[in-house]
Formats: sequence, structure tokens, C-alpha cells
Amino acid sequence: MRKLFHGISKMWGVSAERGRYRSGAEMSEVEVFTSAWMLVEDGWIVGLGGEEGVYGEDFRALGDAMDVERIDLGGLEVLPGLVDSHTHIVFAAPRHEEFEMRLRGESYEAIAAAGGGILNSARKLQAMSEDDLYAQAAERLRTMIFHGTTAVEIKSGYGLTTDSELKILRVVKRLKQDFDIVIKATFLGAHGIPTEYKGEPDRYVDLVIEDMLPKVVAEGLADHIDVFCDRGFFTVEQTDRILKAATAMGLPSKIHANELGLTGGVQVAVANGSWSADHLEHCSDVEIGLLRDSMQMEYGGTVPVGLPGTSYFLGIPYAPGRALIGAGLPFAMATDFNPGSSPIASLQVVWALGCTQQKLLPAEGFYAVTCNAARALRCEKEVGALAAGQRANFFTTKTVDAIKAIPYFMGQNHCHEVFVNGERFV
Ligand code: NIG
Ligand code: FE
Repeated sequence: MRKLFHGISKMWGVSAERGRYRSGAEMSEVEVFTSAWMLVEDGWIVGLGGEEGVYGEDFRALGDAMDVERIDLGGLEVLPGLVDSHTHIVFAAPRHEEFEMRLRGESYEAIAAAGGGILNSARKLQAMSEDDLYAQAAERLRTMIFHGTTAVEIKSGYGLTTDSELKILRVVKRLKQDFDIVIKATFLGAHGIPTEYKGEPDRYVDLVIEDMLPKVVAEGLADHIDVFCDRGFFTVEQTDRILKAATAMGLPSKIHANELGLTGGVQVAVANGSWSADHLEHCSDVEIGLLRDSMQMEYGGTVPVGLPGTSYFLGIPYAPGRALIGAGLPFAMATDFNPGSSPIASLQVVWALGCTQQKLLPAEGFYAVTCNAARALRCEKEVGALAAGQRANFFTTKTVDAIKAIPYFMGQNHCHEVFVNGERFV
């Protein structure tokens, strides 16, 4: 049966074209329908319209006889569901003790080098059952959905043994089965070098390539691969080996690049056709030029993804969002939700940080957490905008002039109700 959502004062992020994402100057204005409606069939948008026009099917042409359930949204504003293209939500415990160590002056890198950080999270995760991990991750996912996220990427990476990496990815598989939102899984076995491999990182890279990767692929547990390519973690050469092995097995890549320094992450990402290069807290004109040139390449380009929650929480530089947009790129942002560098579930907060700290305009921040983030996952035809042919994933808000007000009134949850495939989730 069809559903007609009506009583919408403003519907933001509408698009005539399914799958359109926005680059550079196109990001500065958000298309809107006023006094709007949306026609949905089996969870997908088939038409939408307002005073400004109609995209797709016009329900008014179907006449009174149309078999349709009418849902009055009470005059609220509507936005497309937000897209979180980079998270690590399958973890065992928060790292409160390291938070306090950093507040007392220790650095993130020094804590990691002393066996804390990712290795600390891995020890705790290895000891936890799949069921307990699932229960915690599901709760985090629910929190994210309450805050408007209706598509999410989830990485492994706190396992660091074959069994534990598989355990995490099986948790993600269960989340995919149990939640109707769009979920993508990323295998991040190369997230840290376990203590047993200290001084011999290449042996751990061998394990990732020869043991973990084939098992992950054989069980169909991942949609992409990722590597933490940075100072003190994996080198460009090691990253290149892992990405090439994954490509040969049909897994596209998205990588952690340049969080801790100008370490060649963007170069290796572009050379391997990665779908996104994430972090970019260190990013010079050379990297920006490479990313810009990648957009003309056959694979479709590497989306730059900023993670302002990480910059905020670790007190490190912010990705140069303005310069990336200035270069004509489809800049995206994500939460990086994880216990070490960004315990932040809400893309509304990320949107606000993008504006205040990276000087994005509210409209640019909006595109960065919707269709451009969807592009970073190559699912922009499904989510990230309100267009005929896309999923009816959206939220209502009582906040007036939401595009401007959400990043302005930071720290509140502006979602009133969240709809997934045309069904009320909350
Ligand atoms: O994206 N940078 C690598 N990985 C995560 C943080 C890992 C951690 O500290 O637990 C990130 O920031
Ligand atoms: Fe991350």
C-alpha cells in the first residue's frame, strides 16, 4: 500500500535527480519544497512535491480512488535521514581512564605507543562475548537513529586477531539483519599492531592479508576494507599491500589518512582507487590537488571525509573543509564514533562542529552529512536525499528553519520522529 506524507511545512534536501551529490559551490544552497508532500511505496519514495514543483509521480493526478494511507506530519519540517560513513561502534568499553590521562596532559599517540589506545580496546573486546558486543552496539545504533542517522558504516578493528575480527563483523551482520536502516561493514584488521607483533609489523600485515582477509571475504562479512595508515600505525607500503590484496578479492577501500601527520595516506588512497580518505586533519595543497584530480578518474574519485568530533575530542587540527570545498570537492563528514578519539553518536553535533570549527556554511554542513557521506559509501542512489527512487528515510523536526538552526543550536536532539523506509522508527 502507498503512503502519502503531508502536512510538511518545509521539506529540505529534495532533489530532482536520484543519487545526486554536491561538490564545491553546489553545496552552498539547499533545495527545499514548502507546503510539501511525499508519496511512498514499499518504503521507497515515488514522488514528492510542494509549492515549487513536483518530482516523480504527482499524487494529485491519481485521484480520490487511490488506495493510500495518509499520514499528517503536523506542519513540521522534514530532512533526509543523515548518513554516517565512518564509525567504530562495536567496542567493549569506554576508555574513561585514558580520557583523564589526556586531560592531565598525556598525548593520544603516547598513550597508544605505551600499549593503551586501540590495544586497550582490543584486550577488552577479545574477552567479551559476541552477544554482549551485539547488545551494546545495538544500543549505540539506536541512539544514533534517535539522532537522525538512517545509514551507517561500521568498522571492525578492535579485534586484532582473526577470531575477534570475525566476531565483530558477525555482530555487524546481525545488526544488518535486525535493523532496517542501511548498514555497511568495513574490515579494519589493520587498525593497530598487536603487542605480540611489536617490532615485526609486516608479520601482522601478513596475517591480515593471508588469514583474516580470505576468511572475511569467504563469509561475505565486509563491504569494504580500511587501514589506519599513519605515523606509529601502518606505513604507506603496508597499506598499499593490504589494499592491493583486498582489491584482488573484490573489496573496495576507504582509509584512515593523515590524522597524525602528512604521512602519504591520500597518495596511497588515490593510487588504489579508494572510495574515501577519512580524517585529513593534516592535509596540504598537494593532497587537495590529488583528491581534486581523482574526481576525473575512472573509478569516480576519493571523497574527502572530515571527522570534526575527533579533532574536538583530541584537540588536534580540523580537516581543511573550506579549502576542500573551495577546490570543488564533495566534502563529507562523519562521527568516527569510537571510545578513543570520538565518543560522539550524533551527526547533528558533527554538523555544528563542521560549521563553527571548519567554517562550513550550514548548507555545506548539511550536504556533508547527507548525500556526500552517502557518496563516500557509494550508496548515494539509495540514501542522503529526498528524491524519487530513494529510500523514504527521513526525520521530522519542530525546529524552524532547520537547515540553519540545527548547527546553530548545538547539543540538542532536533529530531521529533525518525522514519526508516517510510515506517516510524521512533
Ligand atoms: O578513527 N584513527 C584510528 N582509529 C580511530 C580511533 C581509534 C581509537 O583510539 O580507539 C579513529 O580515530
Ligand atoms: Fe576512525
